[in-house]
Amino acid sequence: MKKISSRLQKIDSIINANYQSIWDCCCDHGLLGLTLLKRKAASTIHFVDIVPSLTSQLESLLQKHFSTEDFVQRWQVHCTDVIKIPLTPQDKQLVIIAGVGGELIIQFIESLINKFHEMSFTKPTIEVEFILCAVHYNYQVRQTLIKNNCSLLGEYIVTENKRFYEIIHVKKQFSVLVNTPDSLNEISSTGHTMWDLSITSHQQYLTETISHYQRMLLSANNNEQIAINHIIEQYASLVYQTNNKS
Ligand SMILES: C[S@@+](CC[C@H](N)C(=O)[O-])C[C@H]1O[C@@H](n2cnc3c(N)ncnc32)[C@H](O)[C@@H]1O
Repeated sequence: MKKISSRLQKIDSIINANYQSIWDCCCDHGLLGLTLLKRKAASTIHFVDIVPSLTSQLESLLQKHFSTEDFVQRWQVHCTDVIKIPLTPQDKQLVIIAGVGGELIIQFIESLINKFHEMSFTKPTIEVEFILCAVHYNYQVRQTLIKNNCSLLGEYIVTENKRFYEIIHVKKQFSVLVNTPDSLNEISSTGHTMWDLSITSHQQYLTETISHYQRMLLSANNNEQIAINHIIEQYASLVYQTNNKS
């Protein structure tokens, strides 16, 4: 099997609980799901991709290498859009969405959370975890998570092929008794807990992020400029927070 990227290795390393299901959404060749399957990280690993040639190739590979008695029940392949995955209420499940744009991730989260919400009427407490790694648009992904009252479980910056990625691990509870996350597990729009500005790569990522929004300002209208300036201020304040800590 091909070696997995440092980004997928980091995701693999933070998956430590016993899940009933793990959904490797947008799985492509299934490298992450295969890694998780090998170490039996869940009762069932679901491989999800929308491209039929990818899923049929993956299905053949799984049948060839993972059809022994201890593995055959542990995987399923779904050739479908992520918003149509056949979710069921379960005690502990994890949805991973990595390697696609933030706009798409936002659509998936909104749609899946709606589905889980509907299911929670028949089974009172449902909890689901998400691990998200967008190729861009992380600020907006985080705002969607905040709007949906998700709680932070962990967040990390990973560098791969000279690009920076954020990995965001969150939990969403659907019980009527659960309302907002406590302050320790609060998600912030800029990912305040993942930054260590004594690390050069983190400094570079922060500079790149601020420059990106400064470039956006150049073509923005008046209303957009107010919003973008607010985002820039939030990222810039991370520097002051770090300076004040030391
Ligand atoms: C670049 S790959 C990401 C592979 C892997 N998850 C990673 O992070 O390296 C993106 C995959 O997303 C799949 N994809 C795009 N839109 C999708 C959708 N709406 N539903 C399911 N899969 C989708 C594509 O077919 C492609 O295989």
